[in-house]
Amino acid sequence: MRAIVVNEFGGEIQPSERPKPEAGPGQIQIALEAAGVNPFDKKLIDGLLDGKVPYDFPMIPGVDGAGKVSAIGDGVRGFRVGDRVVGKFLVPPIGHGTWAEYIVVPENSTVAAIPDEVTAIQAAALPTAAITALDLVDAAGIVAGQSVLIVGAAGGVGSFLVQLAAGAGGNVIATARPDDTDRMVRLGAAEVVNYGVRVPASDSPEPARYEATIADQVRATHPGGVDVLFDLVDGPDQLRELTLLVREGGALYSTVWAADDTLLRSRRISGGNFESSGGAAQLARLLDLAAKGELVIPIDATPPLAAAGKVVGAPGARGKTVLVI
Ligand SMILES: NC(=O)c1ccc[n+]([C@@H]2O[C@H](COP(=O)([O-])OP(=O)(O)OC[C@H]3O[C@@H](n4cnc5c(N)ncnc54)[C@H](OP(=O)(O)O)[C@@H]3O)[C@@H](O)[C@H]2O)c1
Repeated sequence: MRAIVVNEFGGEIQPSERPKPEAGPGQIQIALEAAGVNPFDKKLIDGLLDGKVPYDFPMIPGVDGAGKVSAIGDGVRGFRVGDRVVGKFLVPPIGHGTWAEYIVVPENSTVAAIPDEVTAIQAAALPTAAITALDLVDAAGIVAGQSVLIVGAAGGVGSFLVQLAAGAGGNVIATARPDDTDRMVRLGAAEVVNYGVRVPASDSPEPARYEATIADQVRATHPGGVDVLFDLVDGPDQLRELTLLVREGGALYSTVWAADDTLLRSRRISGGNFESSGGAAQLARLLDLAAKGELVIPIDATPPLAAAGKVVGAPGARGKTVLVI
């Protein structure tokens, strides 16, 4: 089968031929049509879980994937050949991922049926990013009228999180580059804070503009602080500055493990570093919302499988990148 492989941690991400995996007892084989791309894929390739979870090389990366069940092993009860399915597959040993024509997974992994209204490409965009967004909104328990600042709102997780936080009644303040402002508003942001605004050169006829930081801009419009901060991108130093924007007793979540628990406790801020743990039930909820037209699946790009190495870990995400297999 066609697949993308990596031969060593941090190695070249390249197309290759690999044997087609066969379904054993309790397993399903899926003929993949689309595979989502996440920053986590690059982290896994670079050895994030080395020493914690076994890896097989050559490694086939990819956690998110959608397609049709093409074979079932003995004892499988929940799926039939031909079922349209999507899942988040991180089954040890790592290295048998979704960037390939076929994958074999246990039937009780994070896998759900795709409703007729949702395409395979849309479905493959959901698992990691949308489940994380749903888990964050559930963890924060957002109530109507709360101010919710989302830093990193334009990417995969953020584009779902803006919608789900607004749907829960939050007044969402999304950070985005200026050219992405309208999209953030369409997804449900009440306010957009721009970052990366270029300061014109001194010989430009345009008046020089001060590039205010996200913290400065939010402090100006929300002097009493925000109720909830979801930070999807910042390291510890930047997050420390943003933590001061959260009102005492508010909540803060970092998906990149940059939160300072001591600082949070001293300001009576709940939350902290966050690891998504949602599974098949959360995925099914998201597919249902998408099928009903209540969740936009923000697809940024759909390159072919062979282009995986060019797109994984690339900056500038505007929603999700999905590999077409
Ligand atoms: N802990 C967990 O359970 C969990 C789960 C899922 C994801 N994650 C992590 O969460 C992070 C975000 O994931 P993702 O899938 O949303 O990534 P993504 O699709 O790459 O999106 C990141 C977005 O943030 C923007 N950005 C970068 N620097 C920024 C800054 N300083 N201020 C505001 N926006 C900024 C990027 O746009 P520009 O490049 O144009 O700036 C991009 O749109 C990743 O590190 C991922 O590994 C963790």
